[in-house]
Amino acid sequence: MKVLITGISGRVGANLAVQLMKKGYETRGVIFPGDPKTEKVQKLGIEVFEADMQDAEGIYRACDGCDAIVHLAAQMKQGNSTVQRMFEINALGTLNVLEGAVRSSRKVQSILMAGTDQAYHPFLSDRSITLYEDHPQRPIDIYALTKLMSEQMFYTYQREFNLPIKIMRFGSVIAGDEPLELFYPAWLDAYVNQDWTLPGRVPWFGADKVEAAKAAVAEALKTPNGVCAITDEEGNSWGLPFTDVRDTVDGIIRVLESKDAVGQAFNLVGPAATPFVTVAKLIAANTDRPYLEVKMPFLWWFNVSNAKARSILGYQPKYTYEDMLQSALAMRRGEDIGVVPV
Ligand SMILES: NC(=O)c1ccc[n+]([C@@H]2O[C@H](COP(=O)([O-])OP(=O)(O)OC[C@H]3O[C@@H](n4cnc5c(N)ncnc54)[C@H](O)[C@@H]3O)[C@@H](O)[C@H]2O)c1
Repeated sequence: MKVLITGISGRVGANLAVQLMKKGYETRGVIFPGDPKTEKVQKLGIEVFEADMQDAEGIYRACDGCDAIVHLAAQMKQGNSTVQRMFEINALGTLNVLEGAVRSSRKVQSILMAGTDQAYHPFLSDRSITLYEDHPQRPIDIYALTKLMSEQMFYTYQREFNLPIKIMRFGSVIAGDEPLELFYPAWLDAYVNQDWTLPGRVPWFGADKVEAAKAAVAEALKTPNGVCAITDEEGNSWGLPFTDVRDTVDGIIRVLESKDAVGQAFNLVGPAATPFVTVAKLIAANTDRPYLEVKMPFLWWFNVSNAKARSILGYQPKYTYEDMLQSALAMRRGEDIGVVPV
């Protein structure tokens, strides 16, 4: 069986290719012209097609002759890019993949896409909420919007062409030594000062808290290599479900191989929401980064349920943050942890 992976050079794509090849699948990947990670893909030893996601003809050629497609390519952070460019890569790119599947000379048996927990609007201060697949999706940025649009395109192509579509919603996937590199003050700064409070944007945590939030970030930035243990003013830790890329890849293969997954969406995230304070303690204990208590004027905590993937697919994410961190340390010691670095 031949599987096309878009986003092959990414965190998830390269690791998926390795595991699929181990299982005997033929694998083809798409890279965009000038992708700085071309060498990483060349080392995988797979068939590679070069096309930007907005290049319809190039994507049709890549899809042609494949039995299955796993569509992972996307731009996650806007950075210096424009909303139009993100739209072209993420939304138009998805349309091109679906058209490629319809036009392919071989009948596509499975077509999967990477959605995101960000589309649930997971900016919550209520620890009692768990996000299931039927939670309303209410994007608050262009990235999450393009992912929700992609999901809707997938459902439309199922209805119109009977394509065997399958949707996965990932959350906070990390790989290689990334577990040691989280929670720098600059990361918090990017969220608070760039993402959440850009001129004209509605700060989800309340406009009345913006000044106090900026002040807390400014204080943290005085220790640039610190590892931020972020809590609200009462000391409740921020937290979210981190996912080891090995669990993500295991989940994708289960979705790919399951007939019951057709027409379904699955949350594929780590075992449970992890408190930031726990993560910060682990990083500080294993690196020379100083532990930094950061009190923010609001709580950010969300949990995502894996129950559906567990019951239908037998998905059992096994890597806790402690496990991920141990793997990251082993990788830095030069040991083979079976993960392609980002
Ligand atoms: N990493 C996460 O925490 C996370 C969370 C939720 C959803 N997702 C989704 O999962 C998928 C895989 O994530 P990842 O962590 O591997 O991302 P990544 O950023 O590591 O990889 C993205 C891939 O998309 C490719 N790409 C970007 N622009 C392109 C273009 N114009 N043309 C062709 N290819 C292009 C990149 O080359 C790269 O291979 C993405 O769709 C992402 O939105 C990721």
